[in-house]
Parts: sequence; structure tokens; C-alpha cells
Amino acid sequence: MDGRSRIGHTYPPGEGPVPARRKNSLGQTARDIFLGPVRDRGPTERKGNDMKRTLTYLVAAASLAAAVPALAQGDAAEGENVFKKCKACHMVGDDAKNRVGPVLNGVVGRPFGMVEDFKYSKNLLELAEGGAVWDEETLTAYLAKPKAVIPKGKMSFAGLKDDEDIQNVIAYLESFQ
Ligand code: HEC
Repeated sequence: MDGRSRIGHTYPPGEGPVPARRKNSLGQTARDIFLGPVRDRGPTERKGNDMKRTLTYLVAAASLAAAVPALAQGDAAEGENVFKKCKACHMVGDDAKNRVGPVLNGVVGRPFGMVEDFKYSKNLLELAEGGAVWDEETLTAYLAKPKAVIPKGKMSFAGLKDDEDIQNVIAYLESFQ
């Protein structure tokens, strides 16, 4: 993990693909494990320290990401409830068919725009050609605000306001492979 997103931003430490608040099974975040309490040694040391902290954090985030299976933090059962908001347009499961939106079976971890017979927006297909993938990061951004990821896309959905709802619905989608 190099701190860069697939949609081109460099995130400040703690806001990147591995959220600082992601916890391991002991309830510790990467910051808790690797940095301990944040100490400030005064203005002269601060600059070097910040750099060191940033590097340590990136290493910590990378090792935590390796230790925790991707997307494990959401609750699929809760996500089923959240998915009610998507059902006006999307189906999942064995007999799922395209509706206003494409079938979402197997979408987690897959490149954009892979459902055959669904007429995607031009904008989504352009991003697909550029190699965009529905990983945790792009899905999180898209479900919070679809236009932020696909400005001229055709998913007319305002977005989910609650981060937890987003993680939960991703976990729910992940259960349909
Ligand atoms: C008003 C209808 C509507 C609602 C509600 C809606 N979507 Fe969509 N969704 C679409 C359409 C239409 C597309 C195709 C977008 C495009 O081509 O730009 C889409 C595309 C997607 C994609 C990309 C699929 C692919 O194969 O690339 C995902 C993922 C997705 N929606 C998830 C969701 C989730 C999760 C929800 C609920 C939180 C939701 N959508 C709510 C209509 C909707």
C-alpha cells in the first residue's frame, strides 16, 4: 500500500485506504499498536518527529492491512438492511436481474462495468477502460457520493451518509460472489 488511491489522491496519514480507526481483534488501531500515545517534544523536534511518525504510520497501516482481510470490518447482516435503499434499482442473489441498475453479484473486487447486457454510462465505461476496480476504497467513495467517483454516471442516488452503513452494505455485497 503506498498511500495513493486509485482515483489519484494522496491521502494524509490516517485518512488513506486503511482508516486509522480500523481496529484489530483486540480493539487496537494501527496508531495504538505502533505509535503509542502521541508525545510532543517541542517545536525543534516536532518537524523530524512528524516525518518519522508519518513513515511509521504508513508502515503500520500497511502491516495492519496485510493482517486484516480486506473488507472484514462491515457487518453483512446489518448491510442487508441498508441494501433496502438500493433495491429500488439493484438486485443480488441467484435470480437477480438487471433493473435500473446492474446486478451486483460479485461486484466487490471486480473492475467497473462488467455486467453483460447492462448499458452503463459512458463515464463509467471510460473509468473501466482506465482500469478502475470496485475495491473498498472506490466503493466507499462511490456509495458516499456517486457523483464524486463518476461525475456523469447514471446512478441517481444521493449517497449514504453514515460510514458504518457503507461498510456494512459492502460486507453484504461481498457475500454474493
Ligand atoms: C435510483 C437507482 C439506483 C439506486 C437507488 C442505487 N443504484 Fe447503484 N447503480 C444504478 C445505476 C443506473 C448504475 C449504473 C451507473 C452508470 O452506468 O454510471 C449503478 C451502478 C452501481 C454500481 C457499479 C456496478 C458495476 O457493475 O460497475 C455499484 C457498485 C452500485 N451501483 C451500488 C449501489 C448500492 C450499494 C446502492 C445502495 C446503497 C445503490 N447502488 C443504489 C442505480 C442505482
